[in-house]
Amino acid sequence: MKTLNVALGERSYPIYIGPGLLERTDLLARHIRSKQVMIVSNEVVAPLYLERLKASLEAHDPVELILPDGEAYKSIDSAMRIYDELLARKFSRNATLIALGGGVIGDLVGFVAATYQRGVPFVQIPTTLLSQVDSSVGGKTAVNHPRGKNMIGAFYQPLCVLADTATLDTLADRELSAGLAEVIKYGLIRDPGFFDWLENNLESLLARDPEALAYAIERSCQNKAEVVAVDERETGERATLNLGHTFGHAIETGLGYGACLHGEAVAIGMCQAADLSRRLGWLSAIDVERIVALLERARLPVVPPPDLGAERFIELMAVDKKNVDGKLRLILLEAVGRATLPVGVEIEPLRRTLNEYGRH
Ligand code: NAD
Ligand code: GLY
Repeated sequence: MKTLNVALGERSYPIYIGPGLLERTDLLARHIRSKQVMIVSNEVVAPLYLERLKASLEAHDPVELILPDGEAYKSIDSAMRIYDELLARKFSRNATLIALGGGVIGDLVGFVAATYQRGVPFVQIPTTLLSQVDSSVGGKTAVNHPRGKNMIGAFYQPLCVLADTATLDTLADRELSAGLAEVIKYGLIRDPGFFDWLENNLESLLARDPEALAYAIERSCQNKAEVVAVDERETGERATLNLGHTFGHAIETGLGYGACLHGEAVAIGMCQAADLSRRLGWLSAIDVERIVALLERARLPVVPPPDLGAERFIELMAVDKKNVDGKLRLILLEAVGRATLPVGVEIEPLRRTLNEYGRH
């Protein structure tokens, strides 16, 4: 097992990474102080891993709540279902919530933990690659609004993150690829050596080589922990973690939540951001090709959906948390391994990227 630390003063917490951690009763016992514990999971993950987790938490006699699966359920209605259950069971302010699942469950349960009785402790147990390398770390919690992704949320840090890498054995190939989009993102925004490593080791990751996967998860979490430690509330560097996300969120909202996986939408968005960076003279055409090629090798989509035109994109991109005074700001690339902070972008080059990149 590898342990990393998210350094946030008295709210610091460990990220445990390794196979078989669901069975490690001692790890959870280090962090859970309450008698009352609720595990929230979904209909796909619970049949696979809930019993194992419950066995490790026997001393707490945890209760469970199983929600339907899918991005469409990262909603205020699902949050209400959890509040109802917590209140019906008279859960107190010291109770602990456990999120067992991918980023949808993690973001949703984190949001409920941040708001139930003004905040109760929670633990992240991420079971997808995407959630192990990104969403479980850093305390961004949210639900979607029909008009915009993650528009209702809070910054709220977990007690710990327990990433059992053995849970990835049951993950669908498409979901593994979606997670690789966020892994590649770290190489692109701040870790050029990691981007090189990914170019040399992508096939091992796709083949689920345990050593390669463990290395990619650790290095991704290390990058994320460093960024969060210096900029928890996204006043600066943390915004770079959103490379491709303004385009990507527009795709997710525009197509309807769940039609395109988050990681897939981010992959397309990173290609669009790279194309726009080239048009602004910051990135060479060779670098853009290198980026697109790696994402394609990761079996990710790299062109925007044909039925989402430029004007609809622009309308959807106007609903973004990086915008200031209603003005669009994007994360772009100055090189492979170096992202900009949010920059105000003129509409014409953006329109050209939206109309021309991947449209032929
Ligand atoms: P997800 O939670 O929908 O999981 C993907 C699919 O895999 C689901 O069908 C899920 O039930 C299934 N699944 C989960 N674990 C499994 C396992 N071990 N075996 C088999 N199937 C399994 O999606 P995701 O990609 O994990 O997360 C995407 C969400 O994360 C989006 O809502 C996105 O906005 C959010 N996100 C948040 C942050 C953040 O910082 N908070 C960062 C990135 C993404
Ligand atoms: N995934 C973006 C962030 O955590 O800031």
